[in-house]
Amino acid sequence: MSKQIITLTVNGDRYEVASDPWRTLAEVLREDLRLTGTKIGCGHGDCGACTVLLDGRTVASCLTLAVEAQGHDVTTIEAGAEKPDRIQAALVARGAVQCGFCSPGMVLSARTLLASNPHPTEDEVRRALAGNLCRCTGYTKIVEAVLAAADPSRDSVGRQPGGAPNESVGRQPGGVPNESVGRQPGGVQ
Ligand code: FES
Ligand code: FES
Repeated sequence: MSKQIITLTVNGDRYEVASDPWRTLAEVLREDLRLTGTKIGCGHGDCGACTVLLDGRTVASCLTLAVEAQGHDVTTIEAGAEKPDRIQAALVARGAVQCGFCSPGMVLSARTLLASNPHPTEDEVRRALAGNLCRCTGYTKIVEAVLAAADPSRDSVGRQPGGAPNESVGRQPGGVPNESVGRQPGGVQ
């Protein structure tokens, strides 16, 4: 099958790329547009590392064909990257970024939550991030950071008694255990 011209609007900029029609949005973003903030972990919809926004809604870009994104506004973590937002600042301040592989997807999911629900409960934050897996942090610091970004006065909200991390936080019901999540062999960060 021959390549076709795909027109994408990403972070407000319009791009035209010649691509095989079966390539995913994640591939085109990373390989053609060099927007490598979007990560590819599992490659089949389990980990959330490839999360981007399509018309303001989170999607797994590894499951979305680039051609499907035509006519829609795509937002990646590079949007507004020159100035970290309050969620990114809170993640850094709380040590909620370790390898950072999950962070772009986490930030975009958290932004989407706070846009529709500026004052979420801890449970609402955990549900909103359930599709974003992190194999490093134990999730507690991430949840705390999102709560702090929503309300800086809630400095200790979300901490377990005694500060113990809650290992189950953030997993999807029946989701993939943290240990199996990560980049594919040969994946580029
Ligand atoms: Fe898309 Fe894991 S890479 S969900
Ligand atoms: Fe490493 Fe989340 S910080 S996967």
